[in-house]
Amino acid sequence: MGTLFVSNHPLIQHKVTLLRNTETEPKKFRELIREVAMLLVYEATADLGLKDCPVQTPLAIAAGHELTDKIGLVPILRAGLGMVDGIWEMMPAAEVWHIGLYRDHQSLKPVQYYNKLPVHPTVQVCLILDPMLATGGSAVATVDILKAWGAKRIKYVGIIGAPEGVERLQKAHPDVDIHLAALDDHLTPEPERPGDPPRGYIVPGLGDAGDRQFGTG
Ligand code: PRP
Ligand code: URA
Repeated sequence: MGTLFVSNHPLIQHKVTLLRNTETEPKKFRELIREVAMLLVYEATADLGLKDCPVQTPLAIAAGHELTDKIGLVPILRAGLGMVDGIWEMMPAAEVWHIGLYRDHQSLKPVQYYNKLPVHPTVQVCLILDPMLATGGSAVATVDILKAWGAKRIKYVGIIGAPEGVERLQKAHPDVDIHLAALDDHLTPEPERPGDPPRGYIVPGLGDAGDRQFGTG
């Protein structure tokens, strides 16, 4: 079973609270997505491999280390885009491979509209980036795509997850670790009355992560 890590870091908890707040404007929301993503990836990459790499300082030779694995950042469009830049600043040698998926409003099934992966894998570790793990359909489809590509080590880095999505991803891909800032309560059911939220949103969640970043809600 893939391990679920839910961060209890105070900085992350503070920033997720601001993300949830309906008063948070898109500019601040984008900054927070970027910052939380950086903090989560700091935790999610704690087990990356290193090799010895001695380095000449102005005074002597010091023992040093170099990352052994090439990392691929795989944002799921659109909402995952906001998670890329901050992480990329910390690991500028990473490659970025975009996967375009949207959820069909009726079926909630993911529909793929963009994939530019090269024929053969070019990285050893893939970090899937998407703030919302709701039904888990988009996450499972993305891991399917990466495994068909030949990716061997895959981690999922989200911000808010629902129990339904975590369970589905763990069942479908038990080798994929899941890193979240918060594990929420449930998904919204089929609306019964006018004004009810649409089906499949995370509760309490933060609303639509794509719309809130891009001001399209
Ligand atoms: C959102 C989110 C995930 C997906 C999660 O994307 O960013 O990709 O829904 O839902 P799931 O776990 O039920 O698949 P959305 O389809 O709203 O597209 P967007 O990012 O372009 O707004
Ligand atoms: N996608 C979102 O952006 N938010 C949710 O709560 C569920 C899916």
